[in-house]
Amino acid sequence: MESPKINFASDNYAGVHPAVMQAMVEVNQGPAVAYGGDEYTAAAIQQFKQHLGDTAEVFFVFNGTGANVSALCAMTQSHEAVICAEKAHIQVDECGAPEKIAGCKLLLVPDIQGKITIEGMQAQLQRIGDQHHVQARVVSISQSTEYGTVYTLNELQELAAFAKEHGLYVHMDGARLANAAASLQTDLKTIVDAAGVDVLSFGGTKNGMMLGEAVVFFTPLLAKSFLYMRKQNMQLASKMRFISAQFQALLSNDLSLKNARHANAMAQYLAQGLGKINSIQITHPVHANAIFAIMPPALIEKLHTRYHFHVWDERLSEVRLMTSFNTQPEEIDAFVRDIIE
Ligand SMILES: Cc1ncc(COP(=O)(O)O)c(C=O)c1O
Repeated sequence: MESPKINFASDNYAGVHPAVMQAMVEVNQGPAVAYGGDEYTAAAIQQFKQHLGDTAEVFFVFNGTGANVSALCAMTQSHEAVICAEKAHIQVDECGAPEKIAGCKLLLVPDIQGKITIEGMQAQLQRIGDQHHVQARVVSISQSTEYGTVYTLNELQELAAFAKEHGLYVHMDGARLANAAASLQTDLKTIVDAAGVDVLSFGGTKNGMMLGEAVVFFTPLLAKSFLYMRKQNMQLASKMRFISAQFQALLSNDLSLKNARHANAMAQYLAQGLGKINSIQITHPVHANAIFAIMPPALIEKLHTRYHFHVWDERLSEVRLMTSFNTQPEEIDAFVRDIIE
């Protein structure tokens, strides 16, 4: 049988970390109260509070799109809008769910290496108070970004100060927040505090879980109706203990950070290998676990016979390569060798 293709397509292609799988097996004992009323969910929420502060209000959901869209539901009214980067996941890869489900308009800002700018935000703050115009209410920032870059703490502080000054709530799409924390060599709370986050979508799936994300509120007013919104948005798990157990594993013994550090280190190793090859041009700084690179179309075709990876921009012949908690150095060695030979 042909050996399976090696994964550089996505951290979503990776399996489940063994400790996470084990945690699910361990809670699979007898019945437990459904819909989050169980002891494992209470314990996992406590762990989140240890990482993110006692006042954080934590709700588990199934997936990243559900986390983002439900968060935006809680943050906006129907005449309000969300400022985000042109390439933000909520704009490009959620099939219009924010518009359909949260019912809010997205106001797009050209990004620099995936990052939103203050000038861009400023340009979208038009006609405030004008009854004919949608009112900007939220800025959504991805950390790490869709291009695998990471905002520095200073950059986040500046964006947060601007947002607060202009009455904007801050949403953080933290599907890969652990990768950002590993890259900045800091902890989750330091990032969240720097960005003045009101509502965080925290990613578990890309960090070694089977499925599950958390929506975390730092502004209590916004959390007021979230129990009901989560249910309306079909993001309430009946057997929630199996999501909670995964988070317990991820947030114990620094597993989340360890997984992210490994994924990031593998991206650096891959970038080093690719950096030595003349026909390949890396197009964005490699801060987290994604590499974007331009390579000849014939090479892409050849590599696709053995490796999973996405062509990001066909016109540029630009590909996206992603590493995960279980990427092996030998897989990277093989990839680089196959390019050179
Ligand atoms: C930055 C970011 N946010 C959100 C998501 C959404 O996650 P899901 O596919 O679980 O809905 C993704 C998924 O790739 C992502 O990359």
